[in-house]
Amino acid sequence: MPAITATAPGKAILLGEHAVVYGQPAIAVPVIQVKARAIVTARPDRPRGWVGVQAPDIDLETTLADLPADDPLARVISGVLETIVIPQPPACTVRITSTIPIAAGLGSGAAISVAIIRAFSEFLGRPLPNEQVSDLAFQVEKLHHGTPSGIDNTVVTYERAVYFTKSNDAARGQMMTLKVAKPFTLVIGDSGVSSPTVLTVSDVRQAWLKDVELYEGLFASTGDLVKSARSAIENGDTPLLGQLMDANQEILEKIGVSSPDLERLIQAARQAGAYGAKLSGGGRGGNMIALAPIDATSEVVEALTKASAKSSLVTVVSS
Ligand code: MEV
Repeated sequence: MPAITATAPGKAILLGEHAVVYGQPAIAVPVIQVKARAIVTARPDRPRGWVGVQAPDIDLETTLADLPADDPLARVISGVLETIVIPQPPACTVRITSTIPIAAGLGSGAAISVAIIRAFSEFLGRPLPNEQVSDLAFQVEKLHHGTPSGIDNTVVTYERAVYFTKSNDAARGQMMTLKVAKPFTLVIGDSGVSSPTVLTVSDVRQAWLKDVELYEGLFASTGDLVKSARSAIENGDTPLLGQLMDANQEILEKIGVSSPDLERLIQAARQAGAYGAKLSGGGRGGNMIALAPIDATSEVVEALTKASAKSSLVTVVSS
């Protein structure tokens, strides 16, 4: 049997992170320049039910049976077996590699889950449809984020710009595909500071519990910006989209998830001509995004490098 390979892209939250966990809409886009890849290979030399797991990026070489049950890789592989109802799969090795930086706001956890679910379910002869892929990845996201909104698994599964609202009574949120009237360019700069989303999401929850009124107000204002951003994208008004991103950054600073490193990169991008810039994802570290005029993209990249970005990449968002 030939090896089965599947990939899944990274993602960036354009506007609305954190507020989306509290029921406000958010906009996210796929970032195809970085990818998680899963390869499933048959192992006829092993008994049925044996599943090897290799993740060379984190020096992991083990078996499903030896992984703790709450390990995210074990959860995703077991989740596929439970969904397809195969207690004893043909022996195989699941190998995972990824170019998406970990704990950097680019959806590495969701992409790894989606790539594994696609490759493993296809290997078992029952490739799962997108809805099930996203639902299963969401279950695993709960291990990464605690109380995820579901936006990461959704954008990574469907690989298109989405306007997303969490649903309170069902696992699956509401997703609308965005019509991008005019493609726009994002420069994504990595602060190099690792910041697991589970920590920022839980800190925001503590702060919200201490002052529900203040935080609900900040989340509602974020929701208004996201709604305006959706119209800006659908009308091709890129300068307005940039202003809305700046306004969202101001709120994220009040929410308490920005950092001096991120703000240095955000300022550098704005001074180099970006229409707007903000942190993206959980915050406190990880990546920021800048909306760059097409003729100023290289200036923005250069400014980020000078401001000590660990790396940067450019992606174009279209429908
Ligand atoms: C993480 O990409 C976005 C957050 O809003 C968490 C979530 O929505 O699950 C910070």
